[in-house]
Amino acid sequence: MIPILVITNRKGGAGKTTVSVNLAAEFAALEKRVLLIDLDSQGHCAVGLGVKVTAGQKTIHDIFTVDPFSIHEIICETAVKNVSLLPANTTFRHQNSGNDEMCLARVLAEKVISEKFDLVIIDTPPSLDNLLLNALCAANWVLIPYVPHPLSFEGVRQLIRVLFKVLSEKNPALKILGFLPVMTTSNVRQHKQVTEQVSKQFGALRVLHGIRTDIKLAEAFAANKPVRFYAPKSRGAEDFSQLAKLLFELM
Ligand SMILES: Nc1ncnc2c1ncn2[C@@H]1O[C@H](COP(=O)(O)OP(=O)(O)OP(=O)(O)O)[C@@H](O)[C@H]1O
Ligand SMILES: [Mg+2]
Repeated sequence: MIPILVITNRKGGAGKTTVSVNLAAEFAALEKRVLLIDLDSQGHCAVGLGVKVTAGQKTIHDIFTVDPFSIHEIICETAVKNVSLLPANTTFRHQNSGNDEMCLARVLAEKVISEKFDLVIIDTPPSLDNLLLNALCAANWVLIPYVPHPLSFEGVRQLIRVLFKVLSEKNPALKILGFLPVMTTSNVRQHKQVTEQVSKQFGALRVLHGIRTDIKLAEAFAANKPVRFYAPKSRGAEDFSQLAKLLFELM
């Protein structure tokens, strides 16, 4: 089975989409064929990759409402070589995602996915609902970005409760790849304290080297590009390149 990596945190603004888009680009640069799935109806992955989604275009959210269809027909190419996108429906209502937590797992089991791709990344919305359950049931790895603020720690704890429930009842193959501090600043004492708290609770080995605060990461989104193309010499580009190499070894 190819690695299927879900990027999640119950907290909004925790860096999930920034990590999803930039990791996709970094894995692609390592010659991996990457499929990025945008489960968040905010649709920001398409923005970060410069993909225009037109009205009426089929999206990943159709798997929850439309009769079964083959998702490989609706995969979009992006401007980034080796990165393809299953875009979000920006008008999708979360309450329409039903109760079936295996919709995404079923479509990803299509043979064409493992033939065409080496890795799948799933960006998730900041909610604990059936969309998140679908992502956790379809994945075999989970990566949890967090901003090292006290409230984030609570968000991580809430997510972990859901994660353990999924692990024990639905998807025992799911493994935690790591906790990733993002928007870090080394001289802020609070950042160190929160990361120490995460290490103590979940194990120091699971806390990855973080992504530093870098305005280039925000600007790259506005320029519709991953940071490795927008500002190749930036801190953000350097941190994501290191992270992708490390994660590649761990998976
Ligand atoms: N390392 C960083 N340095 C500076 N800004 C960052 C960094 N990481 C993310 N950001 C900015 O922080 C904001 C939130 O990031 P992002 O959209 O990736 O979070 P998210 O968890 O996907 O949010 P949501 O829960 O709304 O989906 C964005 O404006 C993004 O550009
Ligand atoms: Mg997001």
